Amino acid sequence: TIKAFIFDLDGVITDTAEYHFQAWKALGEELGISFGRDFNEQLKGVSREESLERILALGDRDLGLSEEEKAALCAKKNDHYKQLIEGISPKDILPGIEDLLKDVKAAGIPMAIGSASRNAPAIIEKLELNGYFDYIVDAGKVTKGKPDPETFTVAADHFGADYGSCVGVEDAHAGIEALKAAGMFAVGVGSEESLGKADYRVDSTEQLKFDAIVQRFV
Ligand code: BG6
Ligand code: MG
Repeated sequence: TIKAFIFDLDGVITDTAEYHFQAWKALGEELGISFGRDFNEQLKGVSREESLERILALGDRDLGLSEEEKAALCAKKNDHYKQLIEGISPKDILPGIEDLLKDVKAAGIPMAIGSASRNAPAIIEKLELNGYFDYIVDAGKVTKGKPDPETFTVAADHFGADYGSCVGVEDAHAGIEALKAAGMFAVGVGSEESLGKADYRVDSTEQLKFDAIVQRFV
């Protein structure tokens, strides 16, 4: 039986993945490094600092940035991102998500947010979803980000749940890798191309149904 549900936030609960993309794209353009949605798949789920490294690597030239300059670029991206998310509200919860949260809660299964984002608590608050989540992983305290399993094992450990009895819901390639590395049941929301390793995959959040997940969980 399922002992815990651990949800990614950006791109699963709400479409903030799009805002991360817009903010990184704008920063990339300032650096003369442009990219599209294909490359962005490699940024999903990945920490702020690692995302910048991947963009710089894509640019394939040594900009010779110091750690201070990199930190300033990360701060700039985050300021832009915070502007973009300022107006989000419960109407921005993705289709099907609140029904799923209700069903999991009704089944008495604890739920956590396992996000790489240090903005996660503020977003959950804006969406008015605090009542569903028993725990939000502190991304600032996670030492190894996704695809490392730590984000998810921290949540499972909080509940005292063995990893094999946890279900994780993810929209990112790195997130599915992290769930599989943790030995958890990985539910993917998105394309077969990037989420091929998921144990169960749907194309969009409205197809996420509690009964269907329980049925496939083994
Ligand atoms: C993840 C997003 O949830 O959080 C990434 O998928 C983002 O795109 C990461 O880089 C870190 O988020 P933040 O808000 O702390 O910069
Ligand atoms: Mg995500």
